[in-house]
Amino acid sequence: MSAKILDGRKVANLVKEQVQEDVEEWIDRGHRPPFLQVILVGHDPASATYIRAKTKACKKVGIETDTLQLPDTVSDKELKKIIKKYNNDDTVDGILVQLPLPAHLSSHSVIEAIDYRKDVDGFHPMNVGRLAVEEPTMRSCTPAGIMELLNYYSIPTKGQHAVVVGNSSIVGSPMSIMLSRENGANAGKSTTTICHQFTKDLTAHTIVADIIVVAVGQPNIIKGEMVKEGVVVIDVGFNRIADESGDEGYKLVGDCEFETVKEKASWITPVPGGVGPMTVAMLMKNTLLAAKGSIYP
Ligand code: GUN
Repeated sequence: MSAKILDGRKVANLVKEQVQEDVEEWIDRGHRPPFLQVILVGHDPASATYIRAKTKACKKVGIETDTLQLPDTVSDKELKKIIKKYNNDDTVDGILVQLPLPAHLSSHSVIEAIDYRKDVDGFHPMNVGRLAVEEPTMRSCTPAGIMELLNYYSIPTKGQHAVVVGNSSIVGSPMSIMLSRENGANAGKSTTTICHQFTKDLTAHTIVADIIVVAVGQPNIIKGEMVKEGVVVIDVGFNRIADESGDEGYKLVGDCEFETVKEKASWITPVPGGVGPMTVAMLMKNTLLAAKGSIYP
């Protein structure tokens, strides 16, 4: 078997086209365009690349945006003061603090300073908690984008065994909640296993999985010999590895050994062009939801 490709670029474009239409309708009804405030602390080149992709998508769908660049020496107090200002500003609908933050800042504490109604990343404990109890919420963009991809390609997940490798707060953990609890067009109601750095025998879990979502940030952690024939593989990894053959001196790879895994999988996401564009598209969806203010009672 050679896997079919889950085309994140195509599905992300469809999601963005829908958001663009909805934004136009929102403005036609007399509202101002939605506004996303991005905060970037320091000069991490990967963060700058992600923010460029996000602001480009905003432009495409009609969402206005601004990026506040802060020095990596900014204090916790100063950063929270700035967040509070945006929380109290009615012209700001969404606030996104790009992660990772410099070591002297606690991302959990900074995220908690954001008004949960403006937390378009879906990282605030209020939004994660509402996700866990199946209340309408701002859903974390990467796992929400993966659910959208699974739904689009009509990949059955109900009662299937989904194995999530990686239990980060921003991907693995909300992913496991969505896969096990949600009841989308297709995606949801899976039997879900979470594996992490203390899992004793990773292959014992991945080899029986119908669906694998891998979000570890380590190239080649999943190889062909670790998966069963017909598995659906979602690769969240986005790793820069040295590559002298290109102009940039590096290339982007996921967490899977793509060449061997694709021979056994029925479906697989490429890197790049899989999960990444879906994350950005879901951020657009969340920003419009935040502008509409219709999620919370
Ligand atoms: N860093 C890596 N991924 C993300 C994301 O989805 N949101 C934010 N804010 N930072 C990130």
